[in-house]
Amino acid sequence: DDFVQPPAYPWNHRFPWQSFDHASIRRGHQVYTQVCSTCHSLNLISYRHLADVAYTPDELKAMAGETMVQDGPDSEGDMYERKGLITDFHPKPYENANAARFSNNGALPPDLSLVIKARGRHEDYVFSLLTGYVEPPAGVKIVSGQYFNPYFPGTKIAMAPPLSNGMVEFDDGTENSMSQMSKDVSTFLAWASEPEHDERKKLGMKIILGLGLIALPMFYWKRLKWSTIK
Ligand code: HEM
Repeated sequence: DDFVQPPAYPWNHRFPWQSFDHASIRRGHQVYTQVCSTCHSLNLISYRHLADVAYTPDELKAMAGETMVQDGPDSEGDMYERKGLITDFHPKPYENANAARFSNNGALPPDLSLVIKARGRHEDYVFSLLTGYVEPPAGVKIVSGQYFNPYFPGTKIAMAPPLSNGMVEFDDGTENSMSQMSKDVSTFLAWASEPEHDERKKLGMKIILGLGLIALPMFYWKRLKWSTIK
């Protein structure tokens, strides 16, 4: 099947010396919780992971406290429900894969923790997928429950266009166009797949700077040692 390769967008974090855009991660998390989380889990990200980049601990405690979590067994051996804690992971939308398929015309919404790595083109792909829905071209048959998206391998996807203008009210007042929300949720998912990204780059810069500083005396020392040899 033919499908379209996404263009390469100039993401802030793509350059070797730049971190993620943390304000964008925060907005993207809002998009995930208000829209994507009705169908997609995010199993590898706990609330406290977000403390490094997007929210204060108090905000996270309040956010986790609004969720209910299955815990147990207690001393009687029973399972019980309790309020979510900052150490809990994001709640799952469905009990299991069968329930997920049942609600989605037989298609399984994948866990989004590492979805950015699922196709070769990473955040370029997810952004293009979210903004790329169009009417099927003449001659292409779409059955009910399928949508045409030229960026999806196979072009017929079981996910309805999830975003439209104005859907999420950003708490920093950023304009909530469909493409803005798509950009922010793509940045958020890129962070989710690589939460150590900023630290890694900072360490890399320190090492390069350190090696550069060591190189100066080494150069001098080499010249000194060889200066007696003609
Ligand atoms: C698939 C992202 C909202 C249902 C996917 C894929 C991504 C994604 C990246 C994988 C595409 C691939 O395999 O290449 C998102 C994001 C959302 C969102 C970022 C929020 C902005 C939703 C919602 C639903 C949903 C609200 C349900 C109403 C599905 C289903 C699939 C899917 C059923 C599987 C499609 C197929 O394999 O044909 N989504 N999604 N998604 N999503 Fe979503």
